[in-house]
Amino acid sequence: MANEKVLVIDFGGHYNQLIARRVRELSVYCDVYPSTFSKEKVLEYNPLGIILTGEKENLLTDEDNFKTMIKDTQFPVFEISDEEVKGAYANDEAKAEEFVSNIKNFLYNDCKCSGEWNMKQFTENAIKEIKEKVGNGKVLCALSGGVDSSVSAVLLSKAVGSQLTCVFVDHGLLRKHEADEVEAVFGKKGIYDLNFIRVDAQQRFYDKLKGETDPEKKRKIIGEEFIRVFEEEAKKIGKVDFLVQGTIYPDIIESGLGKHGMVKSHHNVGGLPSVVDFKEIIEPLRSLFKDEVRKVGLELGIPEHLVFRQPFPGPGLGVRIIGEITEEKVKIVQDADYIFRTELEKSGFNKTLGQYFAALTNLQSVGVKNGKRTYERAIALRAVNTSDFMTATWAKVPYDVLEVVSSRIVKEVEGVNRVLFDCTSKPPATIEFE
Ligand code: XMP
Repeated sequence: MANEKVLVIDFGGHYNQLIARRVRELSVYCDVYPSTFSKEKVLEYNPLGIILTGEKENLLTDEDNFKTMIKDTQFPVFEISDEEVKGAYANDEAKAEEFVSNIKNFLYNDCKCSGEWNMKQFTENAIKEIKEKVGNGKVLCALSGGVDSSVSAVLLSKAVGSQLTCVFVDHGLLRKHEADEVEAVFGKKGIYDLNFIRVDAQQRFYDKLKGETDPEKKRKIIGEEFIRVFEEEAKKIGKVDFLVQGTIYPDIIESGLGKHGMVKSHHNVGGLPSVVDFKEIIEPLRSLFKDEVRKVGLELGIPEHLVFRQPFPGPGLGVRIIGEITEEKVKIVQDADYIFRTELEKSGFNKTLGQYFAALTNLQSVGVKNGKRTYERAIALRAVNTSDFMTATWAKVPYDVLEVVSSRIVKEVEGVNRVLFDCTSKPPATIEFE
């Protein structure tokens, strides 16, 4: 871990992650803790300085008496209220620059940081540390093809090569060609030294999901079945020493500060530790923000299409098919989504977007094709701009792109006679449909 560290103490505000991100971008490592962090812990952490953040009112009242507690320590302190952050980012570039420059001033003048935090060093150190930790041990990783699990897997592969086994489960709710793309990178013909196991479990998931329409139950079924499939594979492998988890820093901050209420249950690899016979968990990315994970990915030479991949939910197309999931519906949404993605990528407009995809509504409506009445399904297109996925605004996708996408979908995707575009932001809508 970095030698130079700064503490960001959260007094119940909204911007602790934003501030921590700015500090890291200024090449100084920092951690976020709540204002209940004790004096002993502060001393043990031994930061070069402390940033206090939160709503002005909370900073003033300081119920936990954090400020009094650290008064007799010599650490430089800098307060940034939520109100100041809001002011700095209210569409005024000069103010935002001044805000960053104040933080920089604190870090480099008051705290005397030298700015040693960078991803090249992180990557080198992480590989060294993993090597030491793992020794001759066996490592197991659940690979989804997403950024976090891919970067974790490659870090492990660089450190311990074929002592690593990656299990990739195709639950039949992936995007078109996705399973083959993951295999092309990580499989036998791929570019990394590791054992890759692909499990084609599509039918098992479709069978389990049959007849279920409730979004949360669908998520639960997919999550549980995923764990069952993984458990079976893990049994074949036998005892392993380490299980890899792609936890990243925002997960740690959010669970540590414990104030973000759950809106939907997010299935990733949460239940795996209970079904795998292992000694210890390895979380190689637990100190990194998402964009830092991407930089590590680039350092490691992971293909850009994987590093800059848009997020894809664990339950996959399961939350993009409203109502019951069937193989036929999966095929429809895969094909429509593929057209939408291809056209957005061709236009270059995708580079401005946080997330974009097609979903299958449970609406059927009357149409006319080749002079005949049809009664077919409606596809919804969704494209949003977002920086944190907690809020998002709907994106103004150019009409000419939408025109091509819509006419291709109704022409090429059987069973669809209508294409809708979702112009709702989050809140009140969510990004996904379920
Ligand atoms: P929502 O729909 O809540 O999505 O606005 C916010 C972000 O989270 C992703 N998402 C999920 N990811 N499991 C996941 O791993 C899930 O069940 C899940 N639901 C939503 C979504 O794609 C978006 O990036």
